[in-house]
Amino acid sequence: MSVSGKTVVVTGAGSGIGRAACELLCRAGARVGAIGRREKLLHTLGDELRTEPGELVALPADVGSASEVEAAVRALTERCGPVTGVVNNAGLARFAPIDSASLSDLDAMFAVHLRGPVNTLRACLPALRAHRGAVVNVSSVGGALAMPNRSLYGATKAAVNSLTRSWARELAPRIRVNAILPGPVDTPMYADLGLTDTQTETLRADLLASTPLGRFGEPHEVARWITLLLDDDMSGWITGALVPVDGGRTT
Ligand SMILES: NC(=O)c1ccc[n+]([C@@H]2O[C@H](COP(=O)([O-])OP(=O)(O)OC[C@H]3O[C@@H](n4cnc5c(N)ncnc54)[C@H](OP(=O)(O)O)[C@@H]3O)[C@@H](O)[C@H]2O)c1
Repeated sequence: MSVSGKTVVVTGAGSGIGRAACELLCRAGARVGAIGRREKLLHTLGDELRTEPGELVALPADVGSASEVEAAVRALTERCGPVTGVVNNAGLARFAPIDSASLSDLDAMFAVHLRGPVNTLRACLPALRAHRGAVVNVSSVGGALAMPNRSLYGATKAAVNSLTRSWARELAPRIRVNAILPGPVDTPMYADLGLTDTQTETLRADLLASTPLGRFGEPHEVARWITLLLDDDMSGWITGALVPVDGGRTT
């Protein structure tokens, strides 16, 4: 795979889809800068991947902070060379009807879904331009579908789709920018939606019923598409694409 030897930043690397992306990238020989706030998760992952051909560098940082992301990218570059791939995956889901949705949750989702990709892209921009890099934003089908009772999450993901298309045009031809739109994927995200256990169970049942392939996706099924879109051999002529990996949920 042409990701071998690349230096790739993955945000939200400690769990779920980001963790699976780090595993696949390290197995394929990439050097991965793993960003997240919970440092222990990143070190544990690094230990687990020690025997893989690539390398994982734990970079504790909050993607909402430009200075923390810049410091993380600087440390990665000093150790592994210029960044040629970025995976903007960090995310937060707070679901509530609009009557009761919290504005501080909205601010937090904007910080991680919007400020995060902006901070990370900017920190890596000179290297991505110089080396014809690729960016993959992990959005959601929620950015494309109506999202009753979780409209604020959907709105922040619609903004990620907009950034993806605008950046694809603005940064071409030097940098490719694409997004993955996952459907429901079994990750720790469902343990922390701001809902009661019963509400979460009802939501999961509704998501299952509206997914034609009849099951939740697994993190590695999304991670494979992330690595494909980073790979110039496979995706060198693809930019601005919003790729659903969703068990058919958007059909
Ligand atoms: N699971 C699904 O059904 C689904 C569906 C569609 C889209 N997605 C998207 O997929 C992406 C990955 O989510 P997931 O399902 O894998 O959930 P997850 O396991 O909860 O992963 C989210 C990761 O983001 C990190 N994160 C959150 N805020 C951060 C911040 N401010 N700075 C740095 N890292 C931060 C978290 O780590 P720390 O807390 O340690 O920082 C966590 O590792 C998200 O963008 C999510 O919206 C998921």
